[in-house]
Amino acid sequence: MVKKLSRNDECWCKSGKKYKQCHMMMEEKMRMFHDKGYAIPHRKMIKTKEQIDGIRESGKVNIAVLDYISEKICVGMPTEDINRMVEEKTKELGGIPAPLNFEGYPKSVCTSVDDEVCHGIPSKDIILEEGNIVNVDVSTIYGGYFSDSSRMFCMGNVSEEKKRLVEVTKQSIQVGLDHVKPWVKIGELGAAIHEFARENGYSVVREIGGHGVGIEFHEDPFVSFVCPKNSGVLLVPGMVFTIEPMINMGRCEIQMNDPNGWTVRTEDGMPSAQWEVTVAVTETGYEVLVY
Ligand code: MF3
Ligand code: CO
Repeated sequence: MVKKLSRNDECWCKSGKKYKQCHMMMEEKMRMFHDKGYAIPHRKMIKTKEQIDGIRESGKVNIAVLDYISEKICVGMPTEDINRMVEEKTKELGGIPAPLNFEGYPKSVCTSVDDEVCHGIPSKDIILEEGNIVNVDVSTIYGGYFSDSSRMFCMGNVSEEKKRLVEVTKQSIQVGLDHVKPWVKIGELGAAIHEFARENGYSVVREIGGHGVGIEFHEDPFVSFVCPKNSGVLLVPGMVFTIEPMINMGRCEIQMNDPNGWTVRTEDGMPSAQWEVTVAVTETGYEVLVY
């Protein structure tokens, strides 16, 4: 809360409404939590209804692209083909692939196979093989708004062990969502996911996590999936962020020394899985904007 507005001032969110008819009540409540020692989100983390509508529309494109990939992906396909399809489909639907040229990233999508944790770069030399598990992480700019989600795909006959990793990781998204509601700390959801993964015998990557999203690709807050329950920023209506835990079959340590500057792998070479959704905090709970 930067500027103390008067009741009759125009709200900072540009709704055109008076402050008292817009964000005032919510910010008074936030101030109460602040006084009790909570970390509260700054205004940039709180989206207006119009912005959330925009992110939802962007999300529709993101989902359509992932649906398209899920129809086409198959054993024997080079991951470069996924890149081409993501680019074509996104453009056909009027969007722009967000990863392309983002901080120098060379492709339109991330494709991470088996022990690749995230940020796998599509290549004509990486051929999807029977038994692989692969994460396809799609991010879209549409109408000026960013959306972000990813899914796992099992290529042909996948071992029961790997299938379980993929399934548990998918379930962990719902475990996280169950903790998304206003006026609790964001650490609740991260701690719940961590506990769920550990109960299932898995570990969770610490260094990389979710993020605010919508106006930019990566915004505050950082969303940890390995954190104490009683930690992190207070959730309030209008916050939009990703839930995207990276869950490892073996140990949690990762290596980030690929010469390509991007691809993250498990240190022990064991498989890793990830699903990602974009979620908005509502007055009563949450709305999944992108799955
Ligand atoms: N989509 C990834 C995320 O969930 C980010 C990829 S950034 C890229 O945050 F540049 F590597 F594409
Ligand atoms: Co993300």
